[in-house]
Amino acid sequence: MEAVKISEGVYWVGAIDWNLRNFHGYETEKGSTYNAYLVIDEKITLIDTVKEPFKEEMLERISSVIDPARIEIIVSNHAEPDHSGAIPYILQYAKNAKVYAAFGAGVKDLTAYYGDLAYIGVKNGETLSLGKRTLTFVPTPMVHWPDNMVSFMTPDNILFSNDAFGQHYATDPRLDTECDLAEAYIQARKYYANIVQPYGMQTAKALAACKTLPIQTICPSHGIIWTKHIHDILAMYGSWTSNEYDDSAVIVYDTMWHSTEAMAHAIESAFIGAGLKPKLYNLHFSHNSDIIADAMTSRYIAVGSPTLNNNMMPSVSSFLTYFKGLNGNKKKFIAFGSYGWGGQSPDQVYEALAASKCEPLMPAIRLAYKPSAEQLKKITEDVSSALKSN
Ligand code: FEO
Repeated sequence: MEAVKISEGVYWVGAIDWNLRNFHGYETEKGSTYNAYLVIDEKITLIDTVKEPFKEEMLERISSVIDPARIEIIVSNHAEPDHSGAIPYILQYAKNAKVYAAFGAGVKDLTAYYGDLAYIGVKNGETLSLGKRTLTFVPTPMVHWPDNMVSFMTPDNILFSNDAFGQHYATDPRLDTECDLAEAYIQARKYYANIVQPYGMQTAKALAACKTLPIQTICPSHGIIWTKHIHDILAMYGSWTSNEYDDSAVIVYDTMWHSTEAMAHAIESAFIGAGLKPKLYNLHFSHNSDIIADAMTSRYIAVGSPTLNNNMMPSVSSFLTYFKGLNGNKKKFIAFGSYGWGGQSPDQVYEALAASKCEPLMPAIRLAYKPSAEQLKKITEDVSSALKSN
């Protein structure tokens, strides 16, 4: 496996994980890449590594350019094991290399994973000369762990952004100019929604810092490299970190005998009547991580569950737990559900949404057994009325 030249003296030496389908609960239907970068200068430098099972792929790519023993500097922008997992392995070859990480959290996290490997902590604005090039380190805590930092390299003006601006998107072409750009944007949005969204404020600060830099290339740690479309990806992040809404409304539900589903459609009619574009997700067929990507920018979310054994259905509980951890902005919500006797689920859904940075549009909607056409019409009217007065 060969390294991929990004620019003069800069190579991608990472790994492509075509088969990845789950990244800690996030469905990665397009696989992913773990991006590591090799810089050939007076001090040969490796920026980030790969997930441990891909260490030999990385070594082979490095070896296609230089003898790995010549690496003198390893920069670890983030200690999560998908980027740091091959550090101990590469140190077996680059025996004299020094590992640089964010002062404090970066050194602490790497030590916790791999023991004391004499890491060197770097602070905000600290620089490191590679010879003709210089790296400047900027901490970006919580994008996506406390230890995250980015490294900006001059005079090439390359931002090694780690998780920021990444996508779980496996492709052989490495540049935005060579890949399916529409798919890259879909995956960048899904990545932001599922990985970065809860830390929008911290991301906005990191974005502001980026805007002061004369960036010519963004090299993230997952997915494609941004060269010609830097303005677009920065604008998308600007919109997402600003918690801007679109004109969609997300309706999420599970159903046992189609009663809660019928209620979902009655709510859908009210959203359409209000000029919104509803998107319906039956949890039997949709993955939490896809719903989160759409829910991120929706102004409204409606969640419904039948009552099963005095509880909401486990699929709905799973979605609400995932949503609570990721929801980055305030939405208006509707809780709804059908039941035969107990009828606890609508209130349980209501409480879970209220605990997730959301505000109720109206009281929980509940119906027993099979809803009649009149009852469904009344739901549409009640939701329409609540939307009008909102
Ligand atoms: Fe791609 Fe937070 O690791």
